[in-house]
Amino acid sequence: MIRKALCALVLAVPAFAVVQAAPSAPLEKPSARLEKPSARLEKPSAPLVSGQKLGAILPQRSPQKTYASTCAYCHGANVGPIILGRHLPPAYIHQMVRAGRNAMPAFRPTEITPAELDTLAVWISTAPKIAGEQGQ
Ligand code: HEC
Repeated sequence: MIRKALCALVLAVPAFAVVQAAPSAPLEKPSARLEKPSARLEKPSAPLVSGQKLGAILPQRSPQKTYASTCAYCHGANVGPIILGRHLPPAYIHQMVRAGRNAMPAFRPTEITPAELDTLAVWISTAPKIAGEQGQ
């Protein structure tokens, strides 16, 4: 008799807990929140400000510009070794840029075009050190 009552209690308590824990009200909030972004999407606020047409091919960047925007925040900023003024062979630079190594990321032709990489590799190989750059 006591065992039966205990069993009923053991079975009833988790069921009660589950019913109690079921969150009903909080579920209504996220759906209400979801309505806001779609409302925001309907009225385009600021027009796209850009001199570039979508899909337009960008003009080739100079090696200085490519280096400054895609290499110098690591090389010269204590993340990677100094690569300017060391006369590294262009073929080696090509390999590093396309394949990467450890913390050095690989760059795809969509990020640095083959023509940009050609001029970049020659420029890095022949350019002097930039004063103030710090490397490992
Ligand atoms: C996210 C940081 C980062 C960026 C961006 C980066 N590099 Fe590197 N690079 C590294 C690190 C770290 C190494 C050292 C890799 C190793 O040997 O473990 C390295 C190594 C190299 C080396 C070999 C240097 C040596 O002493 O042998 C070359 C060449 C190189 N990078 C070229 C470039 C060029 C060119 C770019 C820009 C297109 C570039 N890297 C962008 C982090 C970076």
